[in-house]
Amino acid sequence: MEVCCIPAVPFPPASLRYRLHPVLENWSIGRPTKRRCFFAASAGLRHLPKGNHLETQKRMFILGMGFVGEFVAQDLMNQGWAVSGTCTSVAKKEKLDKLGFNVHLFDANEPELEVLNILNQHTHLLVSIPPCLHIGDPMLQHAEVLRRKLNNDCLQWLCYLSTTGIYGDCGGAWVDETYPPNPPNELAKLRLAAEGGWLSLGDDLGVAAHVFRLGGIYGPGRSAIDTIIKGESLSNSQRVRSFKKYTSRVHVADICNALNESIHKPSPGRIYNIVDDDPAPRTEVFSFARKLIGETWMKEVDTNESFSGERSLRGEKRVVNARMKKELGVRLFHPSYRSGLQSISDQVHHYPPSPSPSPSPSWEESLSDV
Ligand SMILES: NC(=O)c1ccc[n+]([C@@H]2O[C@H](COP(=O)([O-])OP(=O)(O)OC[C@H]3O[C@@H](n4cnc5c(N)ncnc54)[C@H](OP(=O)(O)O)[C@@H]3O)[C@@H](O)[C@H]2O)c1
Repeated sequence: MEVCCIPAVPFPPASLRYRLHPVLENWSIGRPTKRRCFFAASAGLRHLPKGNHLETQKRMFILGMGFVGEFVAQDLMNQGWAVSGTCTSVAKKEKLDKLGFNVHLFDANEPELEVLNILNQHTHLLVSIPPCLHIGDPMLQHAEVLRRKLNNDCLQWLCYLSTTGIYGDCGGAWVDETYPPNPPNELAKLRLAAEGGWLSLGDDLGVAAHVFRLGGIYGPGRSAIDTIIKGESLSNSQRVRSFKKYTSRVHVADICNALNESIHKPSPGRIYNIVDDDPAPRTEVFSFARKLIGETWMKEVDTNESFSGERSLRGEKRVVNARMKKELGVRLFHPSYRSGLQSISDQVHHYPPSPSPSPSPSWEESLSDV
């Protein structure tokens, strides 16, 4: 299998590439001479557009079809985009393939050139792969290869999904994007470096690159409601987080919302906090979730909070989302966890309310806060 540790061949000029690819050469006949990206059926993209549509259809590549990636993929496919993406396991690929996505197995530590050759035929790129300890951003280890592969004038927009965790503990202060980051641990430092790396790559390539600093992500299948229904017990990291007075959250639908707005209003190099209006303690969110579950299923749920007392809560931070609203024009679907959880509760009959293995960890479980 071809991986990028193979010495790189210099990126050929467009004319040479057309000569090397007869199908693409025919496609280029009579077209303007400006370099353009290829779009070959062999690349594995679905919903191939015809004729001039080739140049107008938007194509999103999602590095890391995890919780957010899958929602974004569905949202864009519903809007008529061609969407491709990656995951790391065969089982996950099979699941996503069944949902109609065009998914490639991919290890960012050893990226296959074949997949990068597909990636570089896309107009938009969403990076959802988190950094690894001792490595940093696994893709940016191969920044030179990426720079060469993406230097074909195809990519117009990219967004790196980061986290509000890079601000660290701010003693309960309101923090906007100008607040000095204070990464609290090694992973958060690597995350901050990854933000800079992706913005710099975008700048080098002339691509509008953005960073979205996400609060704790929740949505259908990953929420306080799901955690309670599945009867999951608290992990150590959850216990630690339960002592935070404020946790900024965002419903996955609002991440899609903000991404859509950013795609329509690119702003190269810009960083946005993507959170709701209501940073609230975990205890409050879980109390509300228990109330909703009780109302929905008339079910006795354990309302004992075994993990926290109000007086012991620590400040942390309240994340400001004003830039997202002002510059991107985002109008939140779920300004508070209340409306977000209510919508999940309303939909919950679509997925089993009985304890069952989770396809992905609850956001409280997976939130590494970096
Ligand atoms: N969870 C939160 O509350 C939260 C809050 C703020 C920011 N974030 C960050 O926001 C991003 C999206 O969040 P999410 O909850 O959607 O994350 P997620 O569900 O964990 O998805 C991460 C994706 O990255 C892929 N991945 C991980 N390591 C990889 C590697 N070495 N090579 C290739 N692919 C790799 C995973 O592959 P598989 O699909 O095969 O697992 C998955 O598709 C992540 O970077 C996350 O850290 C999360």
